[in-house]
Amino acid sequence: MCGIIGVTGSDDPFGLILDGLTLLEYRGYDSAGVALVTGRELWRRRSAIRGESIGELLRLGPTAPVARAGIGHTRWATHGAPTEHNAHPHVDCTGRVAVVHNGIIENHREIAAKLDAEGHTRTSETDSEVVAHLVEAELASGADLFEAVQRCAKVLRGDFALAFMSADEPEVLVATRRSSPLIVGRTDSIGLVSSDISAVLGTTRELYAIGDDEVAEVRPGSIRIVDAEGSTVDPVPLRVSWGVRAALREGYEDFMSKEIHEQPRALADTLVGRILPEGTTELEELEIPAEELASIGRVIVIACGSSYHAGLAGRAALESWAKVPCTVEIASEFRYRDPVIDASTLVLAISQSGETVDTFHALREAKRRGARTIVLTNVVDSLMAREADGVLYTRAGPEIGVASTKCHTAQIVLLQVFALHLALIRRQLTPEQAAVIGARIASLPGLVERAVGQFDTYRATAEQLAEVNDVFFLGRGHGYPVALEGALKLKELAYVRAEGYPAGEMKHGPISLIDRHAVVVVVATRGALFEKLLANIEEVRARGATVVVLCDEGDEEAGELADIVLEVPAVDEMVAAAVCVVPFQVLAYAIARARGNDVDRPRNLAKVVTVE
Ligand code: F6R
Repeated sequence: MCGIIGVTGSDDPFGLILDGLTLLEYRGYDSAGVALVTGRELWRRRSAIRGESIGELLRLGPTAPVARAGIGHTRWATHGAPTEHNAHPHVDCTGRVAVVHNGIIENHREIAAKLDAEGHTRTSETDSEVVAHLVEAELASGADLFEAVQRCAKVLRGDFALAFMSADEPEVLVATRRSSPLIVGRTDSIGLVSSDISAVLGTTRELYAIGDDEVAEVRPGSIRIVDAEGSTVDPVPLRVSWGVRAALREGYEDFMSKEIHEQPRALADTLVGRILPEGTTELEELEIPAEELASIGRVIVIACGSSYHAGLAGRAALESWAKVPCTVEIASEFRYRDPVIDASTLVLAISQSGETVDTFHALREAKRRGARTIVLTNVVDSLMAREADGVLYTRAGPEIGVASTKCHTAQIVLLQVFALHLALIRRQLTPEQAAVIGARIASLPGLVERAVGQFDTYRATAEQLAEVNDVFFLGRGHGYPVALEGALKLKELAYVRAEGYPAGEMKHGPISLIDRHAVVVVVATRGALFEKLLANIEEVRARGATVVVLCDEGDEEAGELADIVLEVPAVDEMVAAAVCVVPFQVLAYAIARARGNDVDRPRNLAKVVTVE
């Protein structure tokens, strides 16, 4: 979603901002813009050509004026269409103050009405523009930019990350945030603001977090941060775990195929040092003492999208190995219920980005109600990592493709490690049982590698399905979260209506949709419910559906019931999800590509979802 970058003290702020915006592209955007301070004037250019806005700005490079500072933005439209006049930066009536904004200003209508009555002229339909006019009013009453932003932030409701500059203070950037992420950085001569670590890594690794309601003043080579009361804050340095190279395509057709292929490595890295040969576990960043974990009465997993499916895939291990009651909840629903939580509840948020606003607020709410909290994320020191009591980091490297692949499988595997860890702390497994389970988890990178090795076979099979319009994905037990994930991937990438359903539930209604036009994909790898699943397959076959069966390699009994077969290496059902999901990733990828879709940036979607 929206991205922010600001630079001061550079000989080429335009170049640095455009490099940053290009790195932020993966978050998803539909327009972009830049403002520079040149002499004592503001120069601003914006573009809203879908998929080409950054390219259009780049072409302006040679005409950009000499400047030392600027701010840039990629916008994912929420309030107002993705047009040039709604693109950021927004300016005030004088054209001397510019602002870029991520998040939502909830009281923007109220503020706009007041500003309109005072005679301000707004030129966009966005919630963001009001902030420029608020600052204009404060400057007119004698404040400098820093003071003006301090005062203005106090009247804003909602989630925001904001960066400002003024033609009257050419080398100063001011930034503030509430809930939305924003960081600042410096070298000896440059100052930076960004919503995303990866956008500024090429310039510096000296980066600092801005806390909620803090205001930062960034000048060439220096940073000053004050809290909401105006007291100076010691900036908290961020740990940076990736290099810039990790975000390159390296010869693959697209990031998604690269990231599918990276799964064995992502899983192996996630497991390094965490499972010892005898089946004991090491989770050092967890930080919650073992005795506290031992006394946990139940676990509530909160997450969205693919991360939610990872939670469902890990639930069986938490219940069966650790014998802890576990529910898995959609974060955007959980947050607005009145959940019963006490100090013995462990709330485990799963979020690849560590920024998803629904999950972040659900996590905060759980903490407010007294739960112990852990976040399982791929981004070190991300917003949620800083919020939760403990952290579990997947080590999948940056995921650029909008559809989660390697982070999803790494989440599943790390959740299984956590379940084993909890089981050992709670003394629910014998050392022998733990050693067997540990060995099974440890074998997953190799098994996933074998599945990924069949990429071309899966792709060729999927191409037979390029014309599908409506697909059911069915599964039971371990196969159900995989079915949900298969359906989500097909929807988001191939734009095909797809539904994930528990196979045993079909007879309670949806089977009336099955006829000879239906395509039904069934996760039929071996497990306790295998026989029952075969009966469910017979039910849809009897109604003429085309049946695609995902089964263990060489499983003739399952294969015989299929029109199309996808095979994966056989694996114990408790840890099978990360292996079984691979062919479905390729299925969605191949159908999407066959239809000419952009697999890295599917329409309407963003990598980091920072709005509710
Ligand atoms: C689907 C996908 C999304 C994310 C969801 C949560 O492929 O990537 O469904 O899983 O938006 O994002 P995170 O995990 O960053 O909280």
